[in-house]
Amino acid sequence: MSSSSDNPLVRFAAFWWALGVFALFGFSLLVVKLFTNSGEKPNALEEAAAAKRYEVRATVNTAQDAAFQYKEVEAGKVVQVPPHDVFAHLGQGLLSAKPVAVEKPEQIVPGSDRQMALSGAPVVDLAAVDALTPGPEVPVDPALIEAGKAQYMGGGACIACHGPTGEGGPIAPTLAGSEWVTGPVSNLIRIQLRGLGGPIQLKGAIYTPPVPMAALAHQDDNQIAAVLTYVRNSFGNKASAVLPEQVKMLRSEVGKPALVEADLIKP
Ligand code: HEC
Repeated sequence: MSSSSDNPLVRFAAFWWALGVFALFGFSLLVVKLFTNSGEKPNALEEAAAAKRYEVRATVNTAQDAAFQYKEVEAGKVVQVPPHDVFAHLGQGLLSAKPVAVEKPEQIVPGSDRQMALSGAPVVDLAAVDALTPGPEVPVDPALIEAGKAQYMGGGACIACHGPTGEGGPIAPTLAGSEWVTGPVSNLIRIQLRGLGGPIQLKGAIYTPPVPMAALAHQDDNQIAAVLTYVRNSFGNKASAVLPEQVKMLRSEVGKPALVEADLIKP
């Protein structure tokens, strides 16, 4: 009687078993590799999507720059609309601010570092921030309004989109008589720190911006408090001052996706 190893059938079966085990081993290696890479992959996806958006934004910026040039207002009188140095300033401000790869909640890839960080971010107590707002009887320091005006025209570059008299225009809504401006201070601070996109109800109409307002978090606490105090006390508006402490309490908002109206407290 011959041993089983001499049996061609047994040898044939053993060959296929060996091949099967080898393939299974290779497959499990692949699974382990995919599993260990899963931490980097969402980040890479997020970054790639962000790079694409930056490209699009650069193209839009170039087109806008070309559109905002000199205009002849009357025969022989040429003005720059709007002032070009404001745009240069705004660009500089946005550049020095940390670029936000994620602008909308749906751009966050589950499992990315950002998602982990945001899910662990402290919940901000908006009511506590608004509770610090001085009452209407407290006079607003004119020096603060002056500082805010400089910020509006310069470092914050609000003028570029909202116009010199806060009237707004094709690229931004009005600040004059806006219920948001004189409403809860936490809304205004969060808009500065996170930006705002999508349709918003304003003075009885729905305003839909062509481009969202970018976060202007490069401004420090004093600058944000001053500029918001300025808009709350200009263009026919009248409301309390905004305190730097209130801005400070909301700094953890920086880096979160741009706000939409539903994220705000109804004024
Ligand atoms: C790049 C253009 C741009 C700049 C610069 C800008 N904004 Fe805006 N702002 C917008 C747009 C667009 C909206 C509306 C966003 C929306 O409806 O989703 C808006 C909305 C607002 C709102 C809420 C709506 C309203 O009109 O009351 C406030 C308040 C505001 N901006 C204040 C400021 C202040 C203060 C600055 C400067 C520190 C500033 N913005 C700079 C474009 C801009």
